[in-house]
Amino acid sequence: MENLLVTGGCGFMGSDFIRYLLTESDFNGRVINLDTLTYAGNPENLNGMDERFSDRYFFVKADICDPKALDRVFEEFSIDSVCHFAAETHVDRSIMGPSAFIRTNIEGTFNLLESVRSRLDKISLFHHISTDEVYGSLGEKGYFTEDTPYNPSSPYSASKAASDHLVSAYNRTYHLPITISNCSNNYGPYQFPEKLIPLMILNAIEGKPLPVYGTGKNIRDWIYVKDHSRAVWAIMKKGEKGGKYHIGGKYEMRNIDVVEMICDLLDSIKVKKDSAPRRNLITFVEDRKGHDFRYAMDFTKLENELGWTPAESFETGLKKTIDWYLNHNDWVQRVKSGEYRNWIKTHYGG
Ligand code: NAD
Ligand code: DAU
Repeated sequence: MENLLVTGGCGFMGSDFIRYLLTESDFNGRVINLDTLTYAGNPENLNGMDERFSDRYFFVKADICDPKALDRVFEEFSIDSVCHFAAETHVDRSIMGPSAFIRTNIEGTFNLLESVRSRLDKISLFHHISTDEVYGSLGEKGYFTEDTPYNPSSPYSASKAASDHLVSAYNRTYHLPITISNCSNNYGPYQFPEKLIPLMILNAIEGKPLPVYGTGKNIRDWIYVKDHSRAVWAIMKKGEKGGKYHIGGKYEMRNIDVVEMICDLLDSIKVKKDSAPRRNLITFVEDRKGHDFRYAMDFTKLENELGWTPAESFETGLKKTIDWYLNHNDWVQRVKSGEYRNWIKTHYGG
């Protein structure tokens, strides 16, 4: 892996992965970050990387739904490996308007696979980033294993399920050297504030209502984003070709407990102006349609085969995340005001 194409590298998890590759991992090749910069893509998430790693980090603004642009990038940078993060990712948006999800997550993945298939002799790995949501919902007990049948509930998870199937099919049919990882809920710095944890942190800081869907008893497993980046790199380096690996945080929480923990941590750092506890801001709102009750990952395969385990506990990870949002008010304000879009327009057009 000398010329690694990372798609969606200006998003939350892709940018963390690129930062990890360049600053902490043993990867010593070039990273080519291809991202079309949707509302969720922000080059500021990788500030300083192009200067610090001018001979190893390259950014190309391009859409994975544009096969010609993909071919140009594969040729120009002699791409020999791919790590595919790019996707539409927010479940609520997929319920309101599924078409962008079908386009990017299914057609875009298909285009990438075709680019790889047409130069199979040059490609050593296509790693596909996926989600626990492809399996649907669990009850109170049990875990998803790598053999659990797919049963997606939302347009988002159905589109990710389709992309997983395409990647597996290209391995079986054309012998593409692939690996797939399915992971639970990530949290950490630079997450776009429409997802539960950053939304609650920023609303709680500003004293705004904290909208909890339904009863708040739905359960998610939480993993700190750096742990995810480490796991992906371990799978890319040592995972079995054609193999699928689960990644999890071993930290299941009810949504209401997550929100209350955020409130209490923030109260302990900075008392609200009116000194009322932030828990008072919690507001139960209409439930998400088709809301999966619980996700939980069995990732013993990854632990046993590759020796990976999550390093961060939810308490330490959440504390770090809250500190990050408190200390990056410039980033927060540029994202919330939409100012980051103006910057993108000025620098990249469109
Ligand atoms: P994100 O929404 O923060 O970022 C997505 C990135 O993809 C953005 O930079 C966006 O500009 C880019 N992108 C979107 N459409 C594109 C297109 N057509 N062409 C090129 N780039 C495009 O997403 P994230 O939370 O970082 O998730 C990254 C990946 O991880 C996704 O595949 C997602 O399904 C998967 N995943 C996410 C989580 C999670 O908790 N966030 C958990 C498991 C798996
Ligand atoms: O499980 C992995 C998935 O995690 C990824 O594949 C998705 O890309 C990612 O967006 C995330 O999906 P979720 O739907 O689990 O994340 P979200 O942050 O949107 O919601 C987490 C839980 O919190 C979920 O049960 C819905 C609930 N929720 C969410 C929001 C935004 C609320 O109660 N209130 C909210 O305002």
